[in-house]
Amino acid sequence: MRAALITGITGQDGSLLAEFLLEQGYEVHGLVRRVALERPDLRMARLESIRERLVLHPGSLESYASVFSVFAKFHFDECYHLAAQSFVAESFADGFSTMNANVNGTHHVLAALKELQPACRFYFAGTSEMFGQVHQSPQNECTPFHPRSPYGISKVAGYYLTVNYREAYGMYCCNGILFNHEGPRRGFEFVTRKISTGVARIKLGLANEIRLGNLDARRDWGSAAEYVRAMHLMLRQEAPDDYVIATGETHTVREFCEVAFSELNLDYRDYVRVDQLLYRPAEVDLLVGDASKARKRFGWEARTTFKDLVTGMVHFDLALLSNKAEMRSMSVAL
Ligand code: NAP
Ligand code: GDD
Repeated sequence: MRAALITGITGQDGSLLAEFLLEQGYEVHGLVRRVALERPDLRMARLESIRERLVLHPGSLESYASVFSVFAKFHFDECYHLAAQSFVAESFADGFSTMNANVNGTHHVLAALKELQPACRFYFAGTSEMFGQVHQSPQNECTPFHPRSPYGISKVAGYYLTVNYREAYGMYCCNGILFNHEGPRRGFEFVTRKISTGVARIKLGLANEIRLGNLDARRDWGSAAEYVRAMHLMLRQEAPDDYVIATGETHTVREFCEVAFSELNLDYRDYVRVDQLLYRPAEVDLLVGDASKARKRFGWEARTTFKDLVTGMVHFDLALLSNKAEMRSMSVAL
């Protein structure tokens, strides 16, 4: 039986990956930070259905000793390093803690692995935000980086730490360069979930508007459940490498609104208010990825269409807010 450690297991991707690896017969461990006034029912909500099958280790990414002690006690075949301060807007508000968690956190995990388990395969959660102000479209593994936020900069540092451990120590280290991926487990602060839950609230008479920032930004949005499978495939190849994971389609935030509102027979222009305060100091205007390397190497392709992704999230949130029983099965399906 293979054993995997997932940092960031309580997040959208971590929880989906944990379910997927359990299905594949893995023993799944997670590194979780301890917080005061913890409400496990809320904080572990995404792990509810698998909580009993996981081995969870309290630990702090910000402390090398803490990370080291987990690797000293347990053996892992694969380590998926997903934990990060992942909200771009927050990284402008507090760039320092974003850097600390994302750069030092990654360095601590890599350094502890090198010391104790150099044969463990390592996945780093890289991102299309590293391309930032894009130099070419679509973006692929050769596109230069030009990050536009402290978050993007922290991920470029993580990317190069990962490359460096691969080159310097011969470790099996991969960068997944994942474009935006969404679903019913997405955090409420990200624009897709803000829209899907906002539309559902409006439909149910619980709200009468959604305040958004830049409606013209374009993103390549895919389904998170499909993207975590690509992480696993990367670590199962003969040699380590870096891969773009994307759908190859781009849509504006405005289009996301149009599809989401019209699914419930509403017109977004009646409800969406643009708030300048929600604009970012520097924006990433356009992202669209070319995942042909992943397709050629291990047959990964995005399958969920943009429309199905948007409408699935809207119906999930409508059911969630209406407290309908089918919510759980929808969560699995998406
Ligand atoms: P998410 O839902 O925000 O989850 C982030 C996870 O990181 C949570 O488990 C969180 O734990 C943990 N975490 C945050 N700060 C931490 C810290 N200081 N110490 C320990 N744990 C910490 O993010 P996601 O969407 O699943 O994304 C997973 C990874 O992929 C992230 O690294 C993100 O930057 C990257 N990524 C995401 C996308 C996307 O579109 N979703 C695209 C490209 C790359 P708590 O529960 O304790 O907060
Ligand atoms: N969050 C948010 N809230 N974004 C808004 C809003 C709003 O009210 N209004 C407009 N937007 C725009 C943002 O300016 C951005 O251009 C776009 O919607 C997407 O924002 P987010 O959903 O917050 O995601 P992101 O693209 O910045 O970052 C996500 O994807 C990255 C991969 O490209 C995160 O998951 C990152 O962790 C990930 O690396």
